Amino acid sequence: MTVRAPEGDDHGHGHGDRNDGELAIRPAERADLLAVVRIENESFPQPWPYEAFDRFLGDPGFLVAVTNGDIAGYVVADVSPSFGRQLGHVKDIAVHPDRRKMGVGSALLSRSVAVLTAHGADSIKLEVRRSNDRAKRLYRQFGFEPIRRIPGYYGNDEDAIVMVRQLE
Ligand SMILES: CC(C)(COP(=O)(O)OP(=O)(O)OC[C@H]1O[C@@H](n2cnc3c(N)ncnc32)[C@H](O)[C@@H]1OP(=O)(O)O)[C@@H](O)C(=O)NCCC(=O)NCCS
Repeated sequence: MTVRAPEGDDHGHGHGDRNDGELAIRPAERADLLAVVRIENESFPQPWPYEAFDRFLGDPGFLVAVTNGDIAGYVVADVSPSFGRQLGHVKDIAVHPDRRKMGVGSALLSRSVAVLTAHGADSIKLEVRRSNDRAKRLYRQFGFEPIRRIPGYYGNDEDAIVMVRQLE
């Protein structure tokens, strides 16, 4: 893929070939949050604010992907009881625009499924914009199936598709 200069001004200098970086997935730390918020802002029209991510610090389902020492992407997920079952929920996932299509999103989703499984989830759900074909394709590859549509979920009249993966 084409290598572009990073948008931000406080990291990203001095990197060589971005495609060759080692990929590590680890729990998010406070020092990661500015980079996470920057990716969030570049990825979504209605981004989560800093405080939303702050609340998930320390939760096992808040993971970041690191390449060459830089935050390449993140996922926020949790498990909560629902009608006697443990429902996993992938709430947010994004990869830096310059780091997409390199397997970072797949690695985050894969680790997220493992963490939610380890924390007792029976199933995992997520919401995705109806128009977000790339994300829907990724989720299908991970065994998520569309189960219903939520009209106007994203405010600007865009519907959400709810996708679920059973873990049992
Ligand atoms: C959706 C998103 C998280 C996917 O992240 P990603 O890192 O690009 O995902 P991956 O690289 O694992 O896979 C994406 C595609 O790249 C392909 N790919 C993976 N590694 C590749 C490689 N080395 N070379 C070429 N293609 C590759 C995958 O096969 C996949 O192809 P497909 O779209 O045809 O199925 C990312 O596009 C994103 O942040 N989008 C904006 C935010 C968003 O929409 N989030 C989801 C909201 S529900």
